[in-house]
Amino acid sequence: RVSAFAPNPPNRNVQVKSKHVLSTRLFATVEKDEAAVDAPDHMPELRDIAPTIDPKSSNTAFLRYMSDHAFSVANNAKYWNERAQSLLSWEHYPFTSENCEGVVTGGFEYGDVAWFSGAKLNVCYNAIDRHVQNGKADQVAMIWEGDEPGQVLKFTYSDMLRRVSEIANALKSQGVKKGDVVTIYMPMIPQLPMTILACARIGAVHSVVFAGFSSEALSARISASKSKFVVTTDNGVRGGKTIPLKKIVDDAIERNDCKDIVKNVMVFERERSIASDAVTADPSAMNWISDRDVNMNDLLPKQRPYCTPETMDAEDELFILYTSGSTGQPKGLVHTTGGYSLYAAHTIQTTFDLQPNDVFACVADCGWITGHTYVVYAPLLSGSTTVLFESTPLYPDAGRYWDMVERHKISLFYTAPTAIRSLVRFGDDIPKKYDLSSLRILGSVGEPINPAAWQWYYETVGQERCTVVDTYWQTETGGHIVTNIPGVTPMKPGSCTLPLYGIDLVVLDPMTGEAIEGNDVEGVLAIRSPWPGIARTCLGDHARYLSTYLRPYPGYYFTGDAVYRDKDGFYFITGRVDDVLNVSGHRIGTAEVESALVKHPSVAQAAVVGRPHPIKGEAIIAYATPTESNTEDEEELVKELRLLVRSEIGPFASPDVICVTPSLPMTRSGKIMRRVLRKISAGEADQLGDVSTLADPGVVDVLIELMEKQA
Ligand code: WT7
Repeated sequence: RVSAFAPNPPNRNVQVKSKHVLSTRLFATVEKDEAAVDAPDHMPELRDIAPTIDPKSSNTAFLRYMSDHAFSVANNAKYWNERAQSLLSWEHYPFTSENCEGVVTGGFEYGDVAWFSGAKLNVCYNAIDRHVQNGKADQVAMIWEGDEPGQVLKFTYSDMLRRVSEIANALKSQGVKKGDVVTIYMPMIPQLPMTILACARIGAVHSVVFAGFSSEALSARISASKSKFVVTTDNGVRGGKTIPLKKIVDDAIERNDCKDIVKNVMVFERERSIASDAVTADPSAMNWISDRDVNMNDLLPKQRPYCTPETMDAEDELFILYTSGSTGQPKGLVHTTGGYSLYAAHTIQTTFDLQPNDVFACVADCGWITGHTYVVYAPLLSGSTTVLFESTPLYPDAGRYWDMVERHKISLFYTAPTAIRSLVRFGDDIPKKYDLSSLRILGSVGEPINPAAWQWYYETVGQERCTVVDTYWQTETGGHIVTNIPGVTPMKPGSCTLPLYGIDLVVLDPMTGEAIEGNDVEGVLAIRSPWPGIARTCLGDHARYLSTYLRPYPGYYFTGDAVYRDKDGFYFITGRVDDVLNVSGHRIGTAEVESALVKHPSVAQAAVVGRPHPIKGEAIIAYATPTESNTEDEEELVKELRLLVRSEIGPFASPDVICVTPSLPMTRSGKIMRRVLRKISAGEADQLGDVSTLADPGVVDVLIELMEKQA
């Protein structure tokens, strides 16, 4: 247990000494002149202030971690074979403790990795039924905290079994079968995780689309996955604002080829779903399309509240989740049944030391991987209590998280640095008003945590009593891959520290692709051998999966992140090496924003870059050149472009600055030099570096002037 070890104190003298700039931030598949990408300057500062760790003087648990980690990597199949048997209930498990041959097959050459194939299980059974059968029927499985403080619903494991079964049977009644893709576009009401689990129960593949995405983005995802079924709600409510989700679904189905694809839209009424005394909404207000739309609140009372779980192979698809990459097209990553669920349970129990009586609150939205793994699957597979949070950290005020911690006696709390930074501004007095003594471990995810935010989280929220775990992972990895372990790994503010068990982490020379040995080195982060939680393919495009993750550095899974391994061997993520931005913990491809901008008839060309932002991590800066025939007023054009990005992607991708410029910095071969735009955007035009390859160097002064006007 954690309490056996005092959390390692952080460095008290957190001070920024100097700025490191990562010199070799190169991406193997990027052309030379575009490749010299500078690391965001606010990130490498972290490593300068890190305390030194002497492993020999560290606790015995840390020494054991090092030998256990080495063992788990050297005996990959044996290690996961043991974990699979102890963490999950299998209907059929063909491997034995003595013989783990075939536990993992395939590899990174063809991307044909398979774990436990031939073994059978149902993830929903593992997340619910087995707990009901093992004396936990009356334990609270899920606490729902609605948008208004104190608007609470609690569901025991047996409630979950009934509710999920009803939804599963309702889905079946509409023709959903094993292997069908069900798109879920819902707010954070209890029926969202229940629908996810209902899909898992009947073997349907869920594709959750974050309810902040626009109708066009939703439409593209429905179309790409050929999803015949969509589950939504009439409305979503967040921070007191109502969002018409059904209307967005209706618009989405009008777009692309979705009209021919979608056969059935299942609609929950939000009010009726959360309040038993709510009155039925007027169907005409919901633009009911009678041969397509089905009211779930009318359908559920007709269903038998038990549904037999479908037997699934470990390698059957569990879900698809879209994420941003280097091109305009979002990638549908595919996760599978056995490996993903094992990895979810394994990581939460390791990183958060999750115990059955813990109240675990991951405040992410289920529309992202963090919500999939750490709101839904991991805590329930572990038989603990999960919190589902519908609102925002600032609604109705900056005490919302801490009010929740006090009321629900939350022991493990998990959020993103951007949320912490937005709360630091309101001062220490707010958390101090609440009883936070139930807290045991605090998690951070999504981007490197900066020293000030780390210190506030550790001291003011955790009262120097709780371990802060900095969890590094990705949509593609299924769960944490690099993080400190409470009571085991020493904390180093700003460092995600060391790889979890079974993760064979390497730093590669970005140019040669060779693994770099030793400490105090930098390069790109990669993994040498498969782990159970790795995404298996990109839906309908395995070639893209290979070219993004497995071909850039043959023999390795490539994360897309640059990394520094310090003198103690601890890892510091220094930023992405592809054109993916991290805005408030949301991953946004610059290419996606660019392709939205060029859809405007008056825009000839667009370029999007990130620049450091004190709260959001990165801000989106867009440059657009108007077409020759453009007659539009500039201010009007900027307004329209902002709306266009909102409607093509979603409000969260709306640029902070849109700069209309007569031209962009281009190389003679016709490539946009984003490096130049990044520097100009950040107000660092004095550090432009070599611009001799620019076709028209004069463009630089024009852009500097335009940027200054914006400031
Ligand atoms: C990218 C993955 C999976 C969690 C939510 C984001 C960045 C994530 C950390 C961390 C430094 C981090 C990386 C990564 N990232 N966690 N603890 N420290 N960077 O998932 O949308 O798939 O984004 O987020 O750049 O590649 P995602």
